[in-house]
Amino acid sequence: MTNINLIQITDLHLTKSKNTIIQGVNTYVSAKNVINEIKTKQKKIDSLILTGDLVDDETDLGYQNLKTLLFGIKCPIYLIPGNHDSPAAIKSICDDRIKFTNSFILNNDWVMFLFNTKKIGTHSGIFSEDDIEKLNKLLEKHTEKNFIIFLHHPPISINSPWMDTMSIMNPNELYSLTKKYTSIKGIFCGHVHQEFESTINNAKFYTTPSTCHQYKPKADKFSLDLNLNAGYRYITLKNDGEIITSVFRL
Ligand SMILES: [Fe+2]
Repeated sequence: MTNINLIQITDLHLTKSKNTIIQGVNTYVSAKNVINEIKTKQKKIDSLILTGDLVDDETDLGYQNLKTLLFGIKCPIYLIPGNHDSPAAIKSICDDRIKFTNSFILNNDWVMFLFNTKKIGTHSGIFSEDDIEKLNKLLEKHTEKNFIIFLHHPPISINSPWMDTMSIMNPNELYSLTKKYTSIKGIFCGHVHQEFESTINNAKFYTTPSTCHQYKPKADKFSLDLNLNAGYRYITLKNDGEIITSVFRL
């Protein structure tokens, strides 16, 4: 079997207007630059995963702007909600190519699982019982496959106190699964607008830069990182369960 190549982009913060500036960055133009770079430079992609905060103002027009930017990408595209998203509005742009779903079997060796951690009224996230149950069942069923998980909110500290107040509220649900199943190889998040790497039991854990403004790593309070450009993450899944990944910045 050949390797699977994925690209993660995250935290686009689009709005109904293409002129909106957030923290000094035009979010539409910035997302467009990242997506255009992927279209021209990354020809071998099996799936594109967008890990939340796709739209900042929950408007249908914001999601239409996203659909416009994704035009021309041929591989399947998976959307995950963040704290700023409207799951109902996300559904409005789904079609044969753009999907909003929990899980997907990528090939004989890999299963991808996507959490919806959006909780109305808070910037923190939550694992629903349903999602945890679905993942548990898949892990029980596909013991011979490796698992890769995507979600918006980090389930562990990223060593940035102000950001850590907005993480997953019930992370133990996932910790126990990563302890029980060594088949969970990687967990990838957005939300924090910065690159970070750690482990959760046997699984590797990564966060990915936003397509717009960046936050300073290890910051106690809100701090923009003005030295780093927007970026995305390339992920290769090998048949033996190994994950190779790196961040590209514009
Ligand atoms: Fe977020």
